[in-house]
Amino acid sequence: MQSLFSPLPAAAGDAIFALVEAFQNDPAPHKVSLSIGTYFAEDGSIPVMRAVRQARDMLVQAGKPHPYLPIPGSAPYRNAARSLVLGADGPDPERVVTVQSVGGTGALKLGADLLRRTCPDAAVWVSDPTWENHGQIFRQAGFTVHEYPYYDPAAATVRFTQMQAALQALPAGSIVVLHASCHNPTGVDLSSEQWELLTELFARQGLIPFFDLAYQGFGQGLDADAKPIRMMARAGLECLVASSFSKNFSLYGERCGALNIVCHDKLAADRALGQVKTLIRGNYSTPPTFGAALVATILNQPELRHAWAEELEQMRVRLVGLRARLSHALALLTGEPEAWNYIERQQGLFSYMRLSPQQVEALRREHAVYLLKSGRLCIAGLTDSNIEYVARAIAACAQR
Ligand code: LMR
Repeated sequence: MQSLFSPLPAAAGDAIFALVEAFQNDPAPHKVSLSIGTYFAEDGSIPVMRAVRQARDMLVQAGKPHPYLPIPGSAPYRNAARSLVLGADGPDPERVVTVQSVGGTGALKLGADLLRRTCPDAAVWVSDPTWENHGQIFRQAGFTVHEYPYYDPAAATVRFTQMQAALQALPAGSIVVLHASCHNPTGVDLSSEQWELLTELFARQGLIPFFDLAYQGFGQGLDADAKPIRMMARAGLECLVASSFSKNFSLYGERCGALNIVCHDKLAADRALGQVKTLIRGNYSTPPTFGAALVATILNQPELRHAWAEELEQMRVRLVGLRARLSHALALLTGEPEAWNYIERQQGLFSYMRLSPQQVEALRREHAVYLLKSGRLCIAGLTDSNIEYVARAIAACAQR
């Protein structure tokens, strides 16, 4: 019988989550998951951070009821999220809208829907390559999505001159998605000098920066990772920022994020907030409480905040060490000392390995080591007990 849903095309599915599922179903005892962007502790578990544990105990003991939050989310959460992104000395809060969102992805979608209301004819530009989901989010909001040059595979750096030239040619009002730090998937970020040049370019061309800030704290530190955003905000640009607490609080399933919108003035901010509230109400009504209460409790209590920032810094430093170990192990195994240095120059959770899709496939099939087809490897999935095995598997596949 013809179904209501028969006319629908078969969906391709999500590449990242498909790999997570394939990994879970893989019976190999030595399997290693380096696909999804999740930080694993040395013992291979997803950590519950000390501050999160304490805040959780406090909230459970307080035993408060579970009322609806206001449509834009909890005020202590929104204020703390704003200053984490824009700094304590950021723009006047009256001209900044910060709303709680369902993860960083929810913030991107809310921002995309808002932009579609205010500039429906603009096109969206994302980096080549970018996070698999960016294109889909903006297309589902109704935009046409194009790519600007970003990664140079030969040099494992940013093709900055080509990037500048492409952005320079865009019409005013074009929406440009930027990774503030820890570029996903490449781990290759712009330098401060390059961000300064981009800030001037965006101001001159009238481009709209939409930052994705999903890994704050994992690149060079909490403040340093938000610097490009603060630079553009200081230069007087209106910009949007989707920030996430999934990774830096290890609160993936709690879906804690925020959409921040820096506006020229309070009037514009009030307009933007009003529209975002209608988008939220017409979608999921109000945001969930528990994860946001954890984050707000931690960020608003100096001792907990300090403990959290300290543990996050330890996680960041551990990733730097894992990069060095993987790169040195590969240099030794392949006898090519220079060939793997690029892993140490990248930052954040990911390394964009110079591996072909066939080599990635061989890693999975022959060694049960799971990377994304693009060669993206989640450094945060490496541990003392699997790093040598992973290095040997990569060396074996890379030398074919
Ligand atoms: C990733 O890129 O692996 C993470 O951001 C998780 C996700 O939602 O894709």
